[in-house]
Amino acid sequence: MESNAAPFSDTLVERLANARRVGVLTGAGVSAESGISTFRDAGGLWSKFKPGELANVEAFLNNPDLVQRWYQERRQISGAAQPNPGHYALAALEKEIPEFVLVTQNVDGLHARAGSQTIIELHGNIERNYCIDCLKSVAALDEIKEGQPAVCENCGGFVRPDVVWFGERLPATLLETAMGFATRADVFLSVGTSSVVYPAAELPLIARDYGAYVAEINREKTEIGHMLNETVLGSSGIVLPQLLEAVISLRKS
Ligand code: OAD
Repeated sequence: MESNAAPFSDTLVERLANARRVGVLTGAGVSAESGISTFRDAGGLWSKFKPGELANVEAFLNNPDLVQRWYQERRQISGAAQPNPGHYALAALEKEIPEFVLVTQNVDGLHARAGSQTIIELHGNIERNYCIDCLKSVAALDEIKEGQPAVCENCGGFVRPDVVWFGERLPATLLETAMGFATRADVFLSVGTSSVVYPAAELPLIARDYGAYVAEINREKTEIGHMLNETVLGSSGIVLPQLLEAVISLRKS
């Protein structure tokens, strides 16, 4: 028999309904229901492609047009994708909470398209490009032909996506802001991330250390799940709207 019980605790709903500051960290799982591949699930991007050949600066310098074309393809996929109910529920939750910060590892821009306002894009945004030499930002790239990498109009340098690659530091100010908020949050949600990439994975743990009620929402318990207050098992596109509804109805009761 199927149970109609909510997949989350009453405590989580109560804490959210009474929270002044809520932080959220999202990962690729949040966009899975929009048709965008995650990295580490079966069939995910890192099972088909080698990060070492695509997502680091040496790989880019060795083969710029290959890397540019790979990002161009991902850009087309995310550009054609639509936000899903999970993205929309987070945008709506933001309106219910006095101070709300959404930290995302995703580069697909779907949170902004769903209406979220305060977003920290820790790993960059695939829509933006810049020149590796003069750092000038470069608007949308045309089709990139094999052996003909896109170059900067200004100085002729190679154009790269504005995303964080392996071996690169995260933008310091964004990371500091995210960490600072985690220390002050009353509730922190970690949604659709495998929690294996640091420093992003540290945010829920920082929040926990500083006294927040921390829940992860994921199809499976992650490596850090045992250190959090709660693991909510399920798809974010289903769980987040349910959680939002529960918070709103508790507030009304
Ligand atoms: P991963 O692919 O590592 O993890 C995706 C997580 O989402 C897994 O834990 C899944 O169980 C979960 N998941 C899948 N579908 C879901 C759904 N519908 N609802 C809820 N959870 C779901 O992706 P990230 O944790 O985002 O970094 O990966 C972190 C970073 O690793 C990425 O930002 C990227 C990658 O290398 C860079 O490129 C710098």
